[in-house]
Amino acid sequence: MIVLRLVFLSLLCFSSLPRVLAHGYLASFGVSNGQSYTNYTGNAPAADPNPSVIRQVSDISPVKGVSNPDLNCGLNAQFAQKVADIQAGDLLVFDWRGGDNTNWPHNTGPMLTYMTSCGDSGCTQYNSSLSKWFKIAEIGIVENGTSGNSPVWAQQSVMNGAFTNVTLPSTLAPGNYLIRHEIIALHLATSLNGMEFYPACVQVQVSGNGTGIAADNETVLLPGVGGYSYKETDPGLYDPDVYSSNVYVFPGPPIAAFVSSSSSSSSSSPTSSATPPTSSGSSSTSAGSSAQNVCKLQRRLVTSASNSSSQRRRSAKRALLRPTETHNQRTNLLQGIWTDLLSAFKTLNLGPVFASN
Ligand SMILES: *[C@@H]1O[C@H](CO)[C@@H](O)[C@H](O)[C@H]1NC(C)=O
Ligand SMILES: *[C@@H]1O[C@H](CO)[C@@H](O)[C@H](O)[C@H]1NC(C)=O
Ligand SMILES: *[C@@H]1O[C@H](CO)[C@@H](O)[C@H](O)[C@H]1NC(C)=O
Ligand SMILES: *[C@@H]1O[C@H](CO)[C@@H](O)[C@H](O)[C@H]1NC(C)=O
Ligand SMILES: *[C@@H]1O[C@H](CO)[C@@H](O)[C@H](O)[C@H]1NC(C)=O
Ligand SMILES: *[C@@H]1O[C@H](CO)[C@@H](O)[C@H](O)[C@H]1NC(C)=O
Ligand SMILES: *[C@@H]1O[C@H](CO)[C@@H](O)[C@H](O)[C@H]1NC(C)=O
Repeated sequence: MIVLRLVFLSLLCFSSLPRVLAHGYLASFGVSNGQSYTNYTGNAPAADPNPSVIRQVSDISPVKGVSNPDLNCGLNAQFAQKVADIQAGDLLVFDWRGGDNTNWPHNTGPMLTYMTSCGDSGCTQYNSSLSKWFKIAEIGIVENGTSGNSPVWAQQSVMNGAFTNVTLPSTLAPGNYLIRHEIIALHLATSLNGMEFYPACVQVQVSGNGTGIAADNETVLLPGVGGYSYKETDPGLYDPDVYSSNVYVFPGPPIAAFVSSSSSSSSSSPTSSATPPTSSGSSSTSAGSSAQNVCKLQRRLVTSASNSSSQRRRSAKRALLRPTETHNQRTNLLQGIWTDLLSAFKTLNLGPVFASN
């Protein structure tokens, strides 16, 4: 009943919006070493590609399903022609966009960064489908710096137009690597398999004097089976409480141990910039807290959270009804349902009916 009403509402609210609003891709990648900044442009999905360091995907739609081979580097990801020369310790900047260069459309769920070695022959022809990936960073719920201590998904600032920054561990051993930056959108994760994966792979050659490598038991196949591989019932992928809880359990392995011995500047903390790449106005700071702060925040929230199920149900209901705080989440939920309807129609070959939107 409620679901039907939401679908109806979504038809009302979004039928006049172009379908490019939904979903997205990694549009560009930046590297800062403190002195200089290099900007590497990507290719829009399915566009005629220019040489790039970002592996091009075929569509802005999400990868669905934990055993989908496209979980590796994105939908039908292609080898890229170039490689970014970077140094251990550099700041990596990820620029996620919605289709048609709009802002990234989702605000619920974590962002994770993995790497894998391409070996001596480099990344331009390296097929990573059977690679072992290690994690260098992850970020979920953080404190909103501009609004007291209110918890917010770090992904919200991407929706607000910001970049997502990750520090490459200064201890990382030099070599050829793929960097896999992944947004997981959880706006539909209250249903099993509702989660949406957006992985993107960047080809790099890392220089430096580090010796850090991941241990075998810190790695994961993407997709894989058992161990740290993604499972549809992982609490961070199937999350009935996603709109009412401030506790989040990341999927995949822990961050590789060598990362934490990285020098000074926050080894593993992705941050978000206050510089909207597209739109004017509203500066969106925040989210700059380190992984440790996130853990602290989560612990605090765990401590204060009530755990009787009736209380949880009540707060879930409150979350659905509270107009301001959950406006974006509901908008996002409706958008999600709308795009899922669109893909269903596309599958039925009714696409042209909607193409004129
Ligand atoms: C790279 O440059 C383009 C064009 O100016 C800009 O839109 C994009 O945000 C930049 N990307 C990064 C990661 O700096
Ligand atoms: C990598 O190998 C898999 C499995 O053989 C294949 O499906 C995929 O297309 C390959 N990727 C690239 C970029 O060639
Ligand atoms: C932080 O809170 C402000 C004011 O409520 C809001 O406008 C902004 O979008 C929030 N920032 C993030 C990243 O959620
Ligand atoms: C590696 O060490 C050499 C010599 O100590 C130094 O010149 C160089 O800057 C270091 N490279 C990096 C990336 O730290
Ligand atoms: C990996 O194995 C080492 C040595 O047995 C152990 O100390 C470490 O905790 C393990 N790490 C993980 C993530 O399981
Ligand atoms: C992220 O990196 C960009 C480019 O260097 C920078 O403009 C921005 O301030 C950074 N954001 C944070 C929070 O460090
Ligand atoms: C919540 O869980 C903790 C640990 O299991 C337990 O000690 C506590 O009594 C529970 N609180 C409520 C309100 O059920």
